[in-house]
Amino acid sequence: MVDGELEAFLSETRSFAPSSDFSAQANAQPSIYEEAAADPEAWWAQQARRLTWDVEPTTALEWTPPFATWFADGRLNASVNCVDRHVEAGHGDRVAFHWVGEPEDDTLDVTYADLLARVSRAAHALTELGVRAGDRVAIYMPMIPEAVTAMLACARVGAAHSVIFGGFASEALVDRILDADCTFVITADGGYRRGVASPLKAQVDAAVERCAGVRGVLVVRRTGQDVAWHEGRDHWWHEVVDRQSPVHVPESFPAEQPLFLMYTSGTTARPKGILHTTAGYLTHAVTTHYYVFDVKPESDVCWTSADIGWITGHTYIVYGPLANGVTQVLYEGTPDAGGRDRWWRIVERYKVTILYTAPTAIRTLMKWGADLPQAHDLSSLRLLGSVGEPINPEAWMWYREYVGQNRCPIVDTWWQTETGGIMVTPLPGITHTKPGAASAAFPGISVDVVDNEGASVGNGEGGYLTLSAPWPGMTRGIWGDPERFQETYWSRFEGRYFAGDGAKRDDDGDLWLLGRVDDVMNISGHRLSTTEVEHALVGHDGVAEAAVVGASDETTGQAIVAFVTLTLRADEDGVSHEEIIADLRDHVARVISPIARPRQIVITPDLPKTRSGKIMRRLLRDVAEHRALGDVTTLTDPSIVGVIDTLMGQHGNDDE
Ligand code: PRX
Repeated sequence: MVDGELEAFLSETRSFAPSSDFSAQANAQPSIYEEAAADPEAWWAQQARRLTWDVEPTTALEWTPPFATWFADGRLNASVNCVDRHVEAGHGDRVAFHWVGEPEDDTLDVTYADLLARVSRAAHALTELGVRAGDRVAIYMPMIPEAVTAMLACARVGAAHSVIFGGFASEALVDRILDADCTFVITADGGYRRGVASPLKAQVDAAVERCAGVRGVLVVRRTGQDVAWHEGRDHWWHEVVDRQSPVHVPESFPAEQPLFLMYTSGTTARPKGILHTTAGYLTHAVTTHYYVFDVKPESDVCWTSADIGWITGHTYIVYGPLANGVTQVLYEGTPDAGGRDRWWRIVERYKVTILYTAPTAIRTLMKWGADLPQAHDLSSLRLLGSVGEPINPEAWMWYREYVGQNRCPIVDTWWQTETGGIMVTPLPGITHTKPGAASAAFPGISVDVVDNEGASVGNGEGGYLTLSAPWPGMTRGIWGDPERFQETYWSRFEGRYFAGDGAKRDDDGDLWLLGRVDDVMNISGHRLSTTEVEHALVGHDGVAEAAVVGASDETTGQAIVAFVTLTLRADEDGVSHEEIIADLRDHVARVISPIARPRQIVITPDLPKTRSGKIMRRLLRDVAEHRALGDVTTLTDPSIVGVIDTLMGQHGNDDE
């Protein structure tokens, strides 16, 4: 659609009704909302029957706000639910993963029977290497089958995994390993990123030096690069895992056994370890995956393009889809590795039916041109999903038109690391969809948009998104910090979980997500706190003070803009500002991750501060987004904002 047409379309049509073909076959029937609303706890207990239990639970929710347990007296093994039971049901030959490595033709099909043998061997190996139920294991790996195997092997022996995104550097590894007290690390020599072999093992070596509690490191050989070796501590996967028996008798664990920790950014400098336990999380994952993606395990090929280092990879690559026994694509690389049509070639080759990705990826693919998807046979696709950030109507329409060929329903799914699974979403075949709207609460989920005082807003009004009743996939808390859990999520509005997002209800009552209302930024769907980046910047000895804001960005949703004042030394060193800026951007990328590399850094003589010394980030955001400035009268030096505005235009360092 050309400019203007979209607006006209949106103002006239605004919504798409489900097609009758889709509705006739849909997993969800319209009565689902009423059934769940009648007794949400009983409805979830019914959904928990999708799992295979060693001991069936007799209870559902136990709620001592803000702490919940679900199905607490039940016992099960998560890996049995994801693998063994499908093999036992006669589906051992079904492909679990069509794995696609980044280098062309580096592919492997792993069936459920193969996966069972892999997980069993890895479970034996972990036990041999001293990993025990209740331990924490850090996983730092590329998107290779062993990453999924490692997660499931941990679950099988009752150890909680803490997967750390392969793009993070050793500092981030140290923080996460120490916070969770991990005793074991599973990694690879490296992975491929745009043809370059990344040095994962080297990062682990640097990190583990500072983590005395780590007793062993298990290393997959992926790239064949040279790695340093610490005898006694390091073990090659192919030497230890491959010689184990492919048969492993699983133990059963309590429903509330910790399954994993996932570190995510809040509003402070230190990421927090979000804890998820076994049965409630798995129930939420399997149920939402079944209804939201309308999966038919015998025929669907699902592709979630996220990395397993994020919650989306946990819930909609590993636990949800595998517990439902579907076939998936697991792709190691970037969308442009081997050409900008790589994704479309993968969809065509594996006949992907369900594609789940992030708006940033859609906007990037959109920039590369509609002729690329149009040159491929995408007729296998039948459902599209979006997650991670608000999707703008233009991207939604492009996705629908050029990827979904105007046939496929789009589910815009809102959720968080903390929620464990999808919370707000259309249901394909039942609800209408609107470009840009996440629509409605998933059955059994209580969502409310409230005003400043916590009162529900009416249709046509905006406010804060809150969750007013516990749900099975809800985090069980922040690792090692129960008070912070209460404070962060449960104190802003009495008795409600506050997600940190703004939202509105339109005139039809449909939900629209409006982005974060706190100091959390969303860069290409990745969460980062402004404080975390500021902390990294002031960690550089050239920086005196730093203020960071997330400014809107056409492709990445938001981008990082940093304002820094330099130490005297840095200013007198005879190094140009351009060189300092380049160095600072690299420094942040190194300390946190390339995702955190600021788009722009502005060196300023001072920051806008109130008389009480508080930095006014709101004004900096106005400057970064080239908006008219808000009220500056409370500043100690009101003229500084004008100075920064001028400097902003001079430092043209947004090169990516
Ligand atoms: O701001 C919301 C945004 O992503 C945040 C959660 O980030 P994270 O825990 O990393 O999980 C991302 C994947 C589930 C939310 O607070 N977000 C997520 N999905 C959407 C979204 N914003 C708008 N629309 C969405 N569909």
